[in-house]
Parts: sequence; C-alpha cells; structure tokens
Amino acid sequence: AVKVSVGIVGCGVVGTGTVKLLLTNREILRKKTGIDFQLTKVADLNWERKREFEVPEELRTTDYREVIESCDIVVELVGGKEFAKKLMLEALESGRHVVTANKHLLALDGEEIFLKAQEKGLRVGFEASVGGGIPVIKALREGLVGNRIETIYGILNGTTNYILTRMFEENLDFESALREASEKGYAEADPSLDIDGWDAAHKINILASLAFGRYFPFEEVHVEGIRNIQKLDVELGKELGYTLKLLAIAKRFDGEAEVRVHPTFIHSEEALAKVSGVYNAVMIEGDFVGKTMFYGQGAGSLPTASAVVSDIVDAGIAIVSGNGGEVTPVDWESEPVKVRRN
Ligand code: HSE
Repeated sequence: AVKVSVGIVGCGVVGTGTVKLLLTNREILRKKTGIDFQLTKVADLNWERKREFEVPEELRTTDYREVIESCDIVVELVGGKEFAKKLMLEALESGRHVVTANKHLLALDGEEIFLKAQEKGLRVGFEASVGGGIPVIKALREGLVGNRIETIYGILNGTTNYILTRMFEENLDFESALREASEKGYAEADPSLDIDGWDAAHKINILASLAFGRYFPFEEVHVEGIRNIQKLDVELGKELGYTLKLLAIAKRFDGEAEVRVHPTFIHSEEALAKVSGVYNAVMIEGDFVGKTMFYGQGAGSLPTASAVVSDIVDAGIAIVSGNGGEVTPVDWESEPVKVRRN
C-alpha cells in the first residue's frame, strides 16, 4: 500500500484519541483506503501528564516544527487561537494539508486560513470541529449538497447538555455536573466557553457559513449560555412536561439569515429533548430533502478522534490521487444572504 505520513500537534484529550485510533486501526484503514497511514511524530509540551493511551516514546517530541517536517498531513489539536493559527499557517505555507478540530479559531479566523489553503492548493479538514463524532460537515457539504439549506438547529455542546441532563435526571447541582463533564474530558480548557454558549456559537457559525454561502460574521451571532440556570428552572420545566436544552439555531428568511444560541424549553416528548448526556443532535432542513437529523457523541476523546481521522483519510486520498486541494468553503452563492443583525 502507498504510504501517507501523519503528524499531530497537541496531545490532549482529542490528540491522544487520534493517536490511539491511528495505531489501533491502521490495518483497517489500510484495507478500506489502500493507504497506509503512518504516524510519524506527536508534539506536546507536557509528556508527564496522565493519558488514557500511552504514546510510544519514539513518536514524542516537544517541537512542533519537527512534526511539520516529518509528515504530509499536519493535525492541529492544540486548541486556543494564537499558536494554533501560527501553526496552521506555517504547515500550509510549507505545503502540508491540515486537519483541525479548532472550532473557536475557524469561527473567528476561518476565512484567512481557508484563503491560505486555497492559495497553496491544500486542504483544511474540520469535520471534528462540529458535533464531535457526528459527520455533520460531510453531511452538509456532500450528502446534502443539492439542497438550499433553510434551517439548522440542535444541540451542539456536549458539556452543557451533560450538565443539563444531570440536573434534570439526577437533580445534581450545576457545579458538580460541570466537574463531572471536565473529568470526562468533555469541557474546554476554559469551561466558560461551554457554559456561556460560545462553543455552541462557534459551531453553529461554522455550519451557518457552509449553509448560507458566506462567512457568517461571528459578532452577529446572538449568544446566551446556561450559567444562570437554577435547579428550580429545570425542575419547574420538568413538572410542566418540558426539558431545558441549550439550542443553537441558524435560520434563513427571505434573503436574510440569523444565527443564535440560547437555552430553550422543549416539549419532553420531542426527539431533541431525549438527547441526553454528552450526545449532540442536529436537524438540517433542505428544500429538496426536507428534514434530516444527525445524532451521536458530541465530545470526548474517541468520538472526536473518529472525525479527525475521516479528514486525515480525505487528505490522504487527495495526496495519492494527485488531487491536491479541493478546498473548504467553496461554492459560495453568487448572492449571499444578508446577515440579520442580532
Ligand atoms: N467542549 C466541547 C463540548 C468539546 O462540550 O461539546 C467538543 O467540541
């Protein structure tokens, strides 16, 4: 089989899961794709911290440049903005395809990164940036490509859904539920990104941009989180037959679009009300397909690694077929929707 080399920068929750998948399922990947994906180097600044999977000694480095030099595909899993951006631009500049899970950076600075990739004829894969293991980016860009997308809504943050579920089902208080979500590796390094709705906003912004044919300006997303939700709110809703969820919504009107995130009471019999724990669900409505729904684990090491690897495979196939970069938000509509001010 032809070899394609992969290097990873950032060996936290998702990075460790990705190392595990690439090493464990290497043979499965080879059989399915005809490509042998070889992990060359993994960079992290701290090799002392405890991990769920032991990264082989010879793969470890603390120097991200060593990763870039070692491989064809650079996987950015450090999170955060400044360094991640510098790393991605450097990787693209030096001719490497990039795979990332960094929703925060893409929602804010996606355009700059995608333009660089386009200029270089390279790919930036970002399946893992939205919905954890759910292949929702592929669904939007490939499976539903023939549709004009009217509406997208759903639960896009695993941490807050986990907290709300624990409050609803076990009557747990907010702080204990958040602690559990952090221990399970669901929460962001700065959990206020989850709790205050920013993470869900980054994700729906990415989906909205794909759906509405323009980089949706992040400052026009209305964002409200669950920080002020009391046990009593959840309990009262429950008594009346409603479940509280943090919803992310992107909606098209005549020539306009609106994107928002806020807590919402949903009738407890609805499908979305039954999405519990770390699970995410996204409803996408297109003009021909009607309503479709996607469901799966929205955070965590292994599900997110599954999405990362799907992008590694796409980049590998592009390399092997000499296809270079079919790059990211491509066919923007000729007359993009106007942004409805929040
Ligand atoms: N903190 C994020 C969440 C991780 O809880 O959904 C997955 O993007």
